[in-house]
Amino acid sequence: MTKQAKSIEWLDNKLYLLDQTRLPVEVEVEEQTSVEQVWDSIKQLKVRGAPAIGVAGAYGLVVAMRSHADADRATFLAELKTQAAYLDSSRPTAVNLSWALKRAVSAVESSSGTDGRTLFTALTETAEAIHREDIQLCKQIGENGASLITEGMGVLTHCNAGRLATSEYGTATAPMYLAHERGVNFSVYSDESRPLLQGARLTAWELQQAGIDVYTITDNMAAFVMQQGLIDMVIVGTDRVAANGDVANKIGTMGVAILARHFGIPFYVASPFSTIDLATPTGDDIVIEERGEDEVTHFGLRRTAPEGIKVRNPAFDVTPNEFVTAIITDRGIIEPPYDVNLKKTFG
Ligand code: MRU
Repeated sequence: MTKQAKSIEWLDNKLYLLDQTRLPVEVEVEEQTSVEQVWDSIKQLKVRGAPAIGVAGAYGLVVAMRSHADADRATFLAELKTQAAYLDSSRPTAVNLSWALKRAVSAVESSSGTDGRTLFTALTETAEAIHREDIQLCKQIGENGASLITEGMGVLTHCNAGRLATSEYGTATAPMYLAHERGVNFSVYSDESRPLLQGARLTAWELQQAGIDVYTITDNMAAFVMQQGLIDMVIVGTDRVAANGDVANKIGTMGVAILARHFGIPFYVASPFSTIDLATPTGDDIVIEERGEDEVTHFGLRRTAPEGIKVRNPAFDVTPNEFVTAIITDRGIIEPPYDVNLKKTFG
């Protein structure tokens, strides 16, 4: 892949996040100097996408604990748990955030270090490992899914499950990047993804930069382009896959899945193991984040709905497993029945 701005950088023990709220107009990287700033960056979607907020959360803990390296073990661990709970409260739907925070806390707990400095080193190493592994997981999703994309195909995606949503490669985009590297010609249709336009602002931007043929369409054009025969497959990312294969992803994903079924188009979900949550039995058990009203009543800074109007703004929906053709994971392509096959591979 060509060198492009990374969503997350860890350089000389400092955390840098690309501010995705400003893309594609401005490419601004912000150093994160406090845990409150990291919390806010996750909440505001400066860093976003399930795997990326997991990595940012783990580094957020490092930022939080830097000033506690002189503490004794008990004090360090108590503070670590408080800060992990605080970071976890920033966004509820993507399981990667709580997964990464739990992993970091338990790595520190199982370290035999008796002083804060040793525990702090264990914490930093765990965050760095989560970051490194995320790159490998996405690359492996690409390897496992690339052959699904063949010459001349039209591939529709929703929201951004790209390299901006991860540390590199993305999940839904990883098969696209690999197929492109292998010389396969195909076109991507990137749903705009109202209200925050991750598809138009981010997916279209990163695929265009990579030289992939990409169109952006508004969400309500998906049925038409499918009916026109322009779409051969759908690949989306996910924020949490329940044990029965129900899939939480950006609001609007379920509509795309239902359309795909209607038009006989395969609907794939790309997911690293860290997004598969066998502890959540079904999609009904997934907490769906409700976000602020302004995202719906305004388009950018401009008001587009009446003052005082009542608003609902669920940020995610849950696609029932029956609409999912297969889940492309780092451990292979998982097919139905998901309750059996997810447990077999990830249990
Ligand atoms: O609200 P966002 O922008 O964080 O939502 C992101 C998505 O829904 C992605 O599709 C999902 O997190 C997978 S990212 C590899």
